[in-house]
This record gives sequence, C-alpha cells and structure tokens, in this order.
Amino acid sequence: MLKGKHLLEPMDFTLEETDEIFATADDIIDNPKKYAHVADGMLMATLFYEPSTRTRLSFEAAMLRLGGQVIGFSEPGSSSVSKGESIADTTKTIGCYADIAVMRHPKEGAPRVAAMNSTIPVINAGDGGHQHPTQTLTDLMTIRTYKGRLENLTVGLCGDLMFGRTVHSLIKALSRYSNIKIVLISPKELVIPEYVRKEVLIKNNIEFKEVRKLEDALPELDVLYMTRVQRERFFNEEDYIRLKDSYILDGAKMKLAKDDMIIMHPLPRVNEIAVEVDDDPRARYFDQMKIGMYVRMALVVKLLGLEA
Ligand code: CP
Repeated sequence: MLKGKHLLEPMDFTLEETDEIFATADDIIDNPKKYAHVADGMLMATLFYEPSTRTRLSFEAAMLRLGGQVIGFSEPGSSSVSKGESIADTTKTIGCYADIAVMRHPKEGAPRVAAMNSTIPVINAGDGGHQHPTQTLTDLMTIRTYKGRLENLTVGLCGDLMFGRTVHSLIKALSRYSNIKIVLISPKELVIPEYVRKEVLIKNNIEFKEVRKLEDALPELDVLYMTRVQRERFFNEEDYIRLKDSYILDGAKMKLAKDDMIIMHPLPRVNEIAVEVDDDPRARYFDQMKIGMYVRMALVVKLLGLEA
C-alpha cells in the first residue's frame, strides 16, 4: 500500500511496490484518458532549491495530465527561504496548501527533514550528491522496456560516479535484482563513494569492476549509463576543466558496443555523448526522459491513493 508514503530513497519501496508503479505507468501509457481526471481538485507543490528542467517539468506535466494543479517555486530566492525560513517551516506551510510535495535541494538529507515535518507525502527530486529516486524508477522502467528484463544484465556506469546521485540511486536499486554485473567507468578522481562500494556493492555480493577507459568496457555491456561531470559539485574550476571531457561517446566508440546495448543518460548532457549518437537506434536517453513523466504520473496516483 503506497498511499501516504514518502519517497526519499530508492529502497523506500519494496520490489512489489516498484512493480506496482511500473504496471500503473504502463496502464497510463496505454489508457491516458482513463487517468485524465483522477487528480481533479488536488494540488502538488514543487519546491526546487536547485535548477532542474526534466524533473520539475515532468512532475508538473504529470500532475496536470492527471487533472490536478501545481504550485511552488523553481528559484528559492523568490520564496521566504531567502529570508532564512527553515525547511521544516516551509514544509509545514506547504502542508496547509497542497496534497503532495516534490523537493529538490543541494543539501543531502534535506527531503528527509521535510518528510519528518510533513503531513503530506514528500518526494525527493534529488538531494545534493546523494540520491535521486524518481530518476531511478525512470531508469529501471527504461531498462525493463528496452531490454525486457531487470535481471541478468551487465550495466556500465560512466563519468562522474563520485557526485552523480543518479548513479548512486541506480546501483542501490539494481542490487535487488539477480545476476547484475556492474562496470564502473570513471577517472580516478571521480570514483564511486566508499559507502556505495562497501554498503551496496560488497555487502550485496554484486559482481563489479572499475575501469578507466570506456573502450575497454563497451564490448561486454548490455546497458551503458552515461553521466555528466557536474560543474556545480566541484570546489575548484581547474579540476572541473581538467576532468569535464574525460569521456566522450561517439560513433567510432559505438562500433565496439553490442548491437542490442542501450545507451541511457539522466540528462542534461554537456559533451559526453556526441550529437551524432542521437540517431543510433541504441540511443534511449530521450525515450528515458519521456518515460520519466509516466513514472511520475504513476507515483502521484499511488502516493495519493487515486482511483482510475
Ligand atoms: N535528470 C534530471 O534530474 O534532470 P534535471 O536536472 O533537468 O531535472
């Protein structure tokens, strides 16, 4: 039963609950009219303390397509946060007006603080370099759609594995499926955090290896998950400039990949996937982005206990 729950981490939902989200998303894709008014009279609050295009707009589109409405801010400077209001007080305020809240924040754990002070479901839309659980639901559904399974896969994660919250969340989520092999592809300065290595990969006996060159990993992968080197997480611009073009996936490199490998990316991209790759039938990152809206529609339906 998902009604009234928060979503703060990918493991907050059981595998059965995750499957419920996917089944509902499938039903919404097949029967959009059935869901067009299920959220009539309901309000979503989007509290974005950090920039976003896909996550905020897909949540807003999701609520509007369900018949609900949206309030909120995309720039904390335009809210009383700029006067020093705490997350707890902002959340209590939102609970007086809205039925569900979606929060992105640069500080790890901020959505948890919000949930502790909330009378309505809170969804973590990305907290610092920590977790991004709705991106993970999107990623899992994309793999399930285009590979037909979530088991027996070799998944390569490439780029900024240190600060990449989508990567941390996806590894956690994949650790629950059987026979998953993980290939971590990053410069030595941006390797996966120790807590993910120990608490997720080693603890769950997930087979994994770390490589520096994308070309070395490509031939064995079923899924390649590219990520951007995140300028906003660096303390020092020189380090960012040195590392930003560590990996560029282009047409020549794609010749090394399996014919049925899929390329994913949470987006936005900068240089890490050449535009020429967009026309490759293995490129699924724009489909992934669209799936994100249906997954978020399903999530809203379930957390609000709406009936179609
Ligand atoms: N994937 C993702 O979180 O994109 P945005 O930063 O545009 O929301």
